Amino acid sequence: MQPSFWHEKWDAQQIGFHLSAVNPLLIQFWPQLKLPANSQVFVPLCGKSLDMCFLAEQGHEVLACELNELAVAQFYQENNLTHTVEQIGEHKRYSTEQVTIYQGDIFSLQNTNSTELDKTSAFYDRAALIAWPEAMRLQYAKQLAYLIPAGSVGLLVTLDYPQAELNGPPFAVSDDWVQANMGADFEIERLACEDVLSDNPRFVKKQVSSLTESVYKLTRKG
Ligand SMILES: C[S@@+](CC[C@H](N)C(=O)[O-])C[C@H]1O[C@@H](n2cnc3c(N)ncnc32)[C@H](O)[C@@H]1O
Repeated sequence: MQPSFWHEKWDAQQIGFHLSAVNPLLIQFWPQLKLPANSQVFVPLCGKSLDMCFLAEQGHEVLACELNELAVAQFYQENNLTHTVEQIGEHKRYSTEQVTIYQGDIFSLQNTNSTELDKTSAFYDRAALIAWPEAMRLQYAKQLAYLIPAGSVGLLVTLDYPQAELNGPPFAVSDDWVQANMGADFEIERLACEDVLSDNPRFVKKQVSSLTESVYKLTRKG
């Protein structure tokens, strides 16, 4: 999607993707990664997700990226977190103890010491891969692979449904797509695949015939 699409959604607060609680899948599956508490976790396309608070509560350092400035401001404000802001190249770096968000385009983020991404050892992708239409999805997956160091482990959450029955986002991402397009950069293990149609009224209302949610453990290959 073009940046203007997301800026308009945030301006209008049409943020149906935002969950008012920590994602239960994160709570359920994160322990399987068996990460040391002080690991740095990269959260691409973070929005103002409370999942970042959960990760910080596990003792992790959260390093995130989000395009929209209002989303970032709301995250710190709504969680009562005083923060600093500094300009790092094209991005604004918002930071409080344990949660740093680079506000700007993920495609211009670099994996360098100055962005701290070289210290990352884990990642969490919920509603990031599936936010991209097919034409841009591989470019995003390659950027994610570029940004995180070899050996990093993470969770990827996807949705799959007959794409012809509904326009994204979220876009349908099949297991075949993940295996075919991410297998070169990641070891892939599917941890779960559940029927979630009845939990998603928007899909039911639009008469989408099936909807599954998958959770993957991905390990960045060396
Ligand atoms: C579907 S939302 C998901 C947000 C969050 N992961 C969550 O679970 O609530 C996608 C987010 O990606 C952000 N975004 C879109 N394009 C981006 C880009 N090029 N770089 C960084 N963030 C981007 C949007 O502003 C939006 O907040």
